[in-house]
Amino acid sequence: MADPHELLELAIDVVEKAGRLAAEGQAKVDVLDTKSSPTDVVTEMDRATEDLIRTRLLTARPSDALLGEEGGAARGTTGVRWIVDPIDGTVNYLYGRPDWAVSIAAEADGEIVAGAVAAPVHGETYTATRGGGARCDGVELRAGEAVPLEMALVATGFGYEAQRRSQQAEVLRAVLPRVRDIRRCGSAALDLCSLAKGRANAYYERGLNQWDWAAAALVAAEAGVHVAGLHGRAPNSDLTVAAVPGLFEELHDLLAALGADADG
Ligand code: IPD
Repeated sequence: MADPHELLELAIDVVEKAGRLAAEGQAKVDVLDTKSSPTDVVTEMDRATEDLIRTRLLTARPSDALLGEEGGAARGTTGVRWIVDPIDGTVNYLYGRPDWAVSIAAEADGEIVAGAVAAPVHGETYTATRGGGARCDGVELRAGEAVPLEMALVATGFGYEAQRRSQQAEVLRAVLPRVRDIRRCGSAALDLCSLAKGRANAYYERGLNQWDWAAAALVAAEAGVHVAGLHGRAPNSDLTVAAVPGLFEELHDLLAALGADADG
């Protein structure tokens, strides 16, 4: 059985090196390719950062498996799988905006046990181990107090495909009048970490991939944030919902009533 603390130490070392590489490249970045739509871009720095992460993780632990957003995959034999988003918030990164992150999670026997999220422009690194709490730059994180939905600052995000966005806009139209306000920062990992830091009260998004949330959901959960899918499911691509305790049920029930996890 892998030691989550050892996995976290490695994740922190690699996420911070990768963050420095990506930060150095931000000023001169260019689009290399597109994915699900013409606005779903891949930059050369997404690829270079993932290469660095993959090389360093698999040099340290050659028999582990790896799943990376930019296609990096490796089979392993140890039961440990690394889940990597080299740049979460690629559009922000491309526009020289600060809200992007490098995210590395370690899964052991199917359960996320350690996670590190670096926000290099903000100079912050979020870390967590399962059962061991969450920290930002070494300082322990605790989620904020419960607030009623009408007083909640709610973060969300949108996919890249037009049809998915129409559905998300319909849901947002119903949510916006019921909350204090909405934030769309452009990085799902930072949205989740912001709940752990008390910078928002809740977050929901449809269509996330595991690399977007794997590390940050552990950070949020270990800070006391409730993170789940709808109807008791684990967070998944249908819907990820996160909120401080006492607010989660109200937001969950609203999103379920709105059919936020289903197409149009
Ligand atoms: C995206 C960001 C964004 C979220 C999208 C993700 P990427 O990840 O996390 O905030 O709304 O759903 O795809 O493409 O920048 O790695």
